[in-house]
Amino acid sequence: MKILIIGGKGTIGKKVSNHFLKKHEVLIAGRNSADIKVDIVDSESIKSMFESIGKVDAIVCIAGEAKWGAFDSLTEDDFHIGLKSKLMGQVNLVRIGQNYLNTGGSFTLSTGILADHPVEMTTSAAMVNGGIHSFAKAVSLELKDGIRINVVSSGLVEDAIDKYEAYFPGHNPIPMTKVINGYVKSVEGKGNGEIIRMYDNC
Ligand SMILES: NC(=O)c1ccc[n+]([C@@H]2O[C@H](COP(=O)([O-])OP(=O)(O)OC[C@H]3O[C@@H](n4cnc5c(N)ncnc54)[C@H](OP(=O)(O)O)[C@@H]3O)[C@@H](O)[C@H]2O)c1
Repeated sequence: MKILIIGGKGTIGKKVSNHFLKKHEVLIAGRNSADIKVDIVDSESIKSMFESIGKVDAIVCIAGEAKWGAFDSLTEDDFHIGLKSKLMGQVNLVRIGQNYLNTGGSFTLSTGILADHPVEMTTSAAMVNGGIHSFAKAVSLELKDGIRINVVSSGLVEDAIDKYEAYFPGHNPIPMTKVINGYVKSVEGKGNGEIIRMYDNC
């Protein structure tokens, strides 16, 4: 398979990319660090990326940002960061990318545990994660040519413990092998419209 991974040089993305590289052709995209340049906040940038690479068999997004902060400190602009990047960035990847997937291809989006189990400081991040879950379930009913879509929703991953541990008291970090398997299940499996939850039922 030819697999495009947006965010494939990030904390999760590099582990997922290295795994898929063993069996597939992998194209890695990102704003700065990757070979293929794209900013998912900008639809024109998404279009030019697809024009330059052509059709692929799987599009995996492991990118997208949202502002973390106390609810009473977040401005409307702060909320727009998550709406434009993690939410609409991934929606636009599907909206535009559906024309660049081969028959039977797949989308895999990324969210996280906050959609179901928010912690303090995450009103924006939790909100966009939930929106992506609803979007994926709805659009899975309409994608054509056998195209599938799933979302991988992970808990705090082992490789990001240093950065986020303080926000997640009592959470069990998710082993990277388990996170990778979420993406493998979506890309190589047959599921459609699934939210693949990679965390304990906390
Ligand atoms: N870390 C966790 O424990 C965890 C758990 C569950 C869910 N998640 C979610 O999974 C995703 C990846 O997390 P991570 O920890 O791997 O993040 P990360 O280490 O910051 O990596 C993010 C990657 O995405 C790229 N990126 C960011 N914004 C982009 C944009 N607008 N357009 C294109 N590429 C962009 C970055 O590269 P450039 O800077 O070069 O663009 C980078 O390669 C995030 O959405 C995060 O919320 C993370």
